Amino acid sequence: MTKRIIVLTGAGISAESGVSTFRDPDGVWAKYDYQQVATPEGFAANPTLVHEFYNARRGSLDAVEPNPAHIALAHLEKELSAHGGHLTLVTQNVDDLHERGGAKQVIHMHGELKKVRCDATSAPSCGAVFDWHDDLGGDAQCPACGATGSLRPHIVWFGEMPMHMDEIEVALSKADLFASIGTSGSVYPAAGYVHAARGLGIPCIELNLEPSENAAAFNDAHYGKAGDIVPLWVDELLSELD
Ligand code: OAD
Repeated sequence: MTKRIIVLTGAGISAESGVSTFRDPDGVWAKYDYQQVATPEGFAANPTLVHEFYNARRGSLDAVEPNPAHIALAHLEKELSAHGGHLTLVTQNVDDLHERGGAKQVIHMHGELKKVRCDATSAPSCGAVFDWHDDLGGDAQCPACGATGSLRPHIVWFGEMPMHMDEIEVALSKADLFASIGTSGSVYPAAGYVHAARGLGIPCIELNLEPSENAAAFNDAHYGKAGDIVPLWVDELLSELD
């Protein structure tokens, strides 16, 4: 019986909610140069541009709602827990739609739009992380240490280490199923989890609109819109629980 499940989600799970994916033809990286808006070097060169990019994305979250795929995963989390199992929900997404869909524990490996961090390379900073719902500017003051201009989006940029890597590795080692949902499989280390899981003998399933870049590594797959296929998959899993 499958009771310890690790799910990795990507931008595709939020697409039907109206959040842009990254690599689809009308995706974020077709409109913006990631080197300018999603690297430490880009932030150092033009902090205003980077703040504007993340302010717009943070602000746009107010206009979107979780879809049936987010809600189904929250249901899976609750039911597995009630049956002595566990869902580890790891997301590359920086939106808050899993939480708003009801998920209690979400591991945001690429950070969160609604958080900021006191972390400056060329100014005093304390490392504190804060919930943040408004626009952020270069002149903001850290609520903890009072430093000015030290706050940045709590987002993992290209060239930076994703968050919670140890926790994810432990969850992977204990899982009896790995599922990847709505991700192109092109950004590591997340794209490598299927290989790590297969190496541990854990069955792997992909749920995506189309075969991802590493589709061949999965044992099984369901293709279609996340809002359609994820609830069906969750129902299937739950029907097997005692
Ligand atoms: P991508 O934009 O690379 O991939 C989105 C995937 O979702 C594609 O395989 C689409 O086919 C699929 N998709 C689109 N609509 C879907 C739907 N309705 N249902 C199911 N699948 C759908 O996004 P990610 O793989 O999440 O990192 O990108 C990974 C990382 O690259 C992001 O976290 C971000 C980005 O650069 C950083 O910014 C650090």
